[in-house]
Amino acid sequence: MSGLEKQQRAQTIVGDIINAIRDVLRKHDVTFNEYRAGFMHLIGLAKAGEVPLVLDCFLNQTICDIEMKTRQGSRSNVEGPYFLDDAPMVTDAIKVRGDTLPLLIRCQVKDLQGQPIPDVITDIWFADSNGDYSGYSEDFPKDYFRGKVTTDSDGKYAVMGSIPKEYPMAQDEDGPTGKIIELLGGQIMRPQHVHFKYLKEGYAPLTTQSYFEGEKYLNEDPVGGVFEDLTHQLKEENGVAVLDLDVVLDPAE
Ligand code: BEZ
Ligand code: FE
Repeated sequence: MSGLEKQQRAQTIVGDIINAIRDVLRKHDVTFNEYRAGFMHLIGLAKAGEVPLVLDCFLNQTICDIEMKTRQGSRSNVEGPYFLDDAPMVTDAIKVRGDTLPLLIRCQVKDLQGQPIPDVITDIWFADSNGDYSGYSEDFPKDYFRGKVTTDSDGKYAVMGSIPKEYPMAQDEDGPTGKIIELLGGQIMRPQHVHFKYLKEGYAPLTTQSYFEGEKYLNEDPVGGVFEDLTHQLKEENGVAVLDLDVVLDPAE
């Protein structure tokens, strides 16, 4: 896309967003006091540092759904605000701590023709046993509970991690994002999940998540990220829970 085309697209999208908001204000005869209440709420979101959180909560999955209109491979899912791109490379195990239960993550990555893809760099990140992410908690260093693995010549990797705890997507339940969810009658707990980002030159980057069959918040994810094809039955092998994944990457656009 040329510079001019980008500018025209931005003008069209931003113009349509403003017009859509104006239409809603007119449709509901929003008063000046209501407008000011919303205005102050947005200031509160910015002051609390919750702008990324509220955007990821309400809009990230919509972008994934749009991506899926032109993809045939595995489903794209919410990245969320806790990805860090400088996670350590790991081979057999991601560093964990605290009273976590082990989770073996095994995966094979293929292309649309079913051919395994070697040398795919996969970022994996997940919450600890308190529902915290490294890099966002003072309690432990940022190379815990996240790492990058690479697929072998069969497109496979296997890495030991731990079972993540479900967590409130807004850490401050009474903060401005939590208040919006409460106002809309929702709840703030995200179901247990593991995040993945698959990167390989020549293929469309895939950011996704895996959820676990039977988990209690599956049907009320505040982020709307749970889909059947992303929800997996954990197996048990030698007393260890195993998450087996088959992932298909689309070619780069
Ligand atoms: C997450 O899964 O990390 C997440 C996604 C959206 C909002 C908050 C958290
Ligand atoms: Fe998460």
